[in-house]
Amino acid sequence: MLNKSFTPFPNLTTERLVLRQLEINDEQEILTLRSDSEINKYLDRPISKTIDDARNFITKVNENISKNNSLYWAITMRDGDTLIGTVCLFSFSDENDQCEIGYELLTNFQGHGIMKEAVEKVIDYAFNTIKVRKIEAFSHRDNQDSLKLLKKLSFTESNEPDNREPYLLYYYLTNSIGNFKSII
Ligand SMILES: CC(C)(COP(=O)(O)OP(=O)(O)OC[C@H]1O[C@@H](n2cnc3c(N)ncnc32)[C@H](O)[C@@H]1OP(=O)(O)O)[C@@H](O)C(=O)NCCC(=O)NCCS
Repeated sequence: MLNKSFTPFPNLTTERLVLRQLEINDEQEILTLRSDSEINKYLDRPISKTIDDARNFITKVNENISKNNSLYWAITMRDGDTLIGTVCLFSFSDENDQCEIGYELLTNFQGHGIMKEAVEKVIDYAFNTIKVRKIEAFSHRDNQDSLKLLKKLSFTESNEPDNREPYLLYYYLTNSIGNFKSII
């Protein structure tokens, strides 16, 4: 059984970052993340068009957290509270002790190792606190930045093709002996 108890919200910190819960005040940055054409190029999801869309999204995310269905962190720099990106864990399976991970960063903050730093911390939390044994990630086959990140974090590419969505590659990371602790 997974340890899914997300209240109080698990804030996380790294050398440069604070990962905290989304707030309604993040609406402008959430709207940018969910409407920018570069950020959404390889993502198959509804585009947010208005501040109301962003606000509704934040409300839905926080409802899911309160029901222990999923976790969604706002990434902020330690020296400022403004949201610069997000990381989420979702599709938890108690049966298979696993979940899925997703992430996105505002374009100005890409290329500085920020997502690697954030995702390492979230993986550590997933393995050592929630106690999942496997984390899955799906990425468009042309999304080079995302694929590079997954490889850097030691995710393995599955060789089972997904015939339903052939443009997606399936990666996974398992918490086997000495696997993750060694890289953080
Ligand atoms: C996927 C995504 C989060 C990757 O962001 P990123 O900033 O490239 O990721 P990282 O944190 O791993 O940073 C890596 C880059 O920072 C550079 N870097 C600079 N300083 C660094 C440091 N201190 N530590 C590590 N890397 C550093 C690396 O060299 C690398 O640059 P390169 O790509 O030119 O080689 C980003 O492209 C994104 O948000 N895309 C849109 C959303 C998306 O597609 N999400 C994936 C859904 S599956």
